Amino acid sequence: MIRRYDYGTPIPTGAVAIPQPVCEDTMPRFTVVQADSAISFKVSMDEDDMIFGLGETVRGVNKRGHLYRSWCSDEFSHTENKASLYASHNLVIFSGRSGVFGLFVDDPGAVTFDLGYTRSDEAVITCENGDCSAYYITADTLIGAVKEFRHIIGRSYLPPKWGLGYIQSRWGYTTEEDLRAVARNHRERGIPLDILSMDIDYMEDFKDFTWDARKFPDLPGMVADFKKDDLRVMPIIDAGVKEEAGDPTYDEGIEKGYFCRKADGKVFVGAVWPGRAVFPDFLREDVRQWFGKKYHGMLEAGVEAFWNDMNEPAIFYSEEGLADAYAKADSMRGTNIGVYDYFALKDAFTGMSNSMEDYRRFYHDVNGQIMRHDRVHNLYGAMMTKAGACGMASYNPDKRHLLFSRASYIGAHRDGGVWQGDNNAWWSHILLSLKEMPGMNMCGFLYTGADLGGFGCNTTEDLLQRWLQLGVFTPLMRNHAALGTRDQEIYRFRKWKQMRDTLTVRYGLIPFLYSELVKAVMKDDMYFRPLAFDYPQDRIASRVEDQMMLGSACMIAPVYEQNARGRYVYLPEDMLMVRFRSSENYDCLPMKKGHHWIDLAMNEFPLFIRRGQVIPMAKGAEAVARIDASCMTLLGWLDHGTAFTLYDDDGETTHIDLEKGLTLVDVQVRGGTVTARGEGLTLDTSRIILGE
Ligand code: GLC
Repeated sequence: MIRRYDYGTPIPTGAVAIPQPVCEDTMPRFTVVQADSAISFKVSMDEDDMIFGLGETVRGVNKRGHLYRSWCSDEFSHTENKASLYASHNLVIFSGRSGVFGLFVDDPGAVTFDLGYTRSDEAVITCENGDCSAYYITADTLIGAVKEFRHIIGRSYLPPKWGLGYIQSRWGYTTEEDLRAVARNHRERGIPLDILSMDIDYMEDFKDFTWDARKFPDLPGMVADFKKDDLRVMPIIDAGVKEEAGDPTYDEGIEKGYFCRKADGKVFVGAVWPGRAVFPDFLREDVRQWFGKKYHGMLEAGVEAFWNDMNEPAIFYSEEGLADAYAKADSMRGTNIGVYDYFALKDAFTGMSNSMEDYRRFYHDVNGQIMRHDRVHNLYGAMMTKAGACGMASYNPDKRHLLFSRASYIGAHRDGGVWQGDNNAWWSHILLSLKEMPGMNMCGFLYTGADLGGFGCNTTEDLLQRWLQLGVFTPLMRNHAALGTRDQEIYRFRKWKQMRDTLTVRYGLIPFLYSELVKAVMKDDMYFRPLAFDYPQDRIASRVEDQMMLGSACMIAPVYEQNARGRYVYLPEDMLMVRFRSSENYDCLPMKKGHHWIDLAMNEFPLFIRRGQVIPMAKGAEAVARIDASCMTLLGWLDHGTAFTLYDDDGETTHIDLEKGLTLVDVQVRGGTVTARGEGLTLDTSRIILGE
């Protein structure tokens, strides 16, 4: 059950798609404290209570023990001390002796989650501005609470099926020839690939909706050539629009008054990649319509996918911030500064980026009401995603669009996916990317994944190898790296064949993974779940943080340590381990409930299938469109017959009829032989293991 309580004057965010009546009684369980202009929700916790949720945040799957702050941040160092990353996903669900209950705080301003940080036996959630709608959630189970919540926030975004293909990206592919070379190097070696992303380098002087004609003399021609080879390109769009008279986006926005303004009525200017830039007021419907239509130019050139970036919004500096820093420096010039003065001088410059002062300098028009940016900060990226989604949908209403964003707020889960931002080529970030998954799923973001191989720092062959092995299972599978870092396309490495083989597993599993994703989307379910959700009575499983349930039948357990040749895995029940080397080369080993050491050579990674369940696997292909999903091998460990359903469609329709798209696969076991039938499917049952 969900009960809504309003405090102050909540700002409409659109997060909740099915409006809930406002309750007049007092909120159960939480003590509500109003102090200064803030409002806090306090609840005491038993020693063993756990907290799940908060989407894209650092640290564990169980969020207890840290202080988080919802404030969409351009944060390129995802270390444990960080309170905020790019997203604001204000949902927490508690589970413990007193049952399951949760809270979603719908406020686009800053919200802090002190989850046993100040006092280990207390959680305090504080809405800094004091205006919010708070949704109190109760259910019998963790997944039940998530489903209730997901139901009211509306159906999650579903990418086209080819969006599950492998994406190769890099900040630094500058010309058409760069992209063609990347494509060629994949295709010549048989490394699967569906999408090439285009970072800011493709633009003319980093101006949105332009491409540099010297570097891309025939963009439509290039896109068409790629399409013939089942490849798509995915250009980036940034939130900041270059301040340059003569640029149509800038000129139109100025003429129509579409950019955010300061209190004095002047357009706010902050610097991002293009230098001085202005910021569309995405909180306005007319601005979203206008900005969305801007995507049409590239859609006309044949482009079918975009990623939206720097939309927290990231602001490197403003003219005011720069002036203040210079003034500080001038005031100290020629003086003998002490150490604290020196720190202050340094901070005046380093603190210029994404500063609170800047976020208080400009305003939005929210349904005719003028609001200072900091009150609605966390909505900015979400509303940019909405603009992009509307633009793509209005261009082609019958096709699903591929779109993902960096910043997000709950609500944006209906319009696009999110990638996990600028991680680093660190082993700890493999694990972090896994841990972020279930929280994001709880908040509706199913199409998500990390920059595989790591964005910042130089990757290593083994790191990329292990991270790809996790990426096989994440709906969004992209290899992306920062400018100036070591090349990290698969073919750059000596062991490229092993990594290619890893990708064949991804492509072989796509019919199954796509089916699981669509089912999760359509049933408000999670694609990745912590083990605590499935085995709440199992005190070991409940605390496992480095294994994850995938769909209804599977569990994953990636290797995330350098030089490891295996790992410990806890099986909460009997499972079949499929130890993959490629889509056609793998071992199937039945394993009993309990702790196990699993040997995993560098090119091996496991998938666990619950005893009694079966999953299908195709042969793999170089592009999603080339997968033959009519011929599949079944994997499982059975004692008797079973059945499962597999969803499929054309991969692009927006009208998803779950029931119609399901094929029932009936698996029979008689006299030691297994047979399987599913309409239109040729099924190989020879890999199914029977009995003990
Ligand atoms: C931001 C993005 C990153 C991109 C870079 C250049 O840091 O997060 O993915 O490569 O900007 O556009």
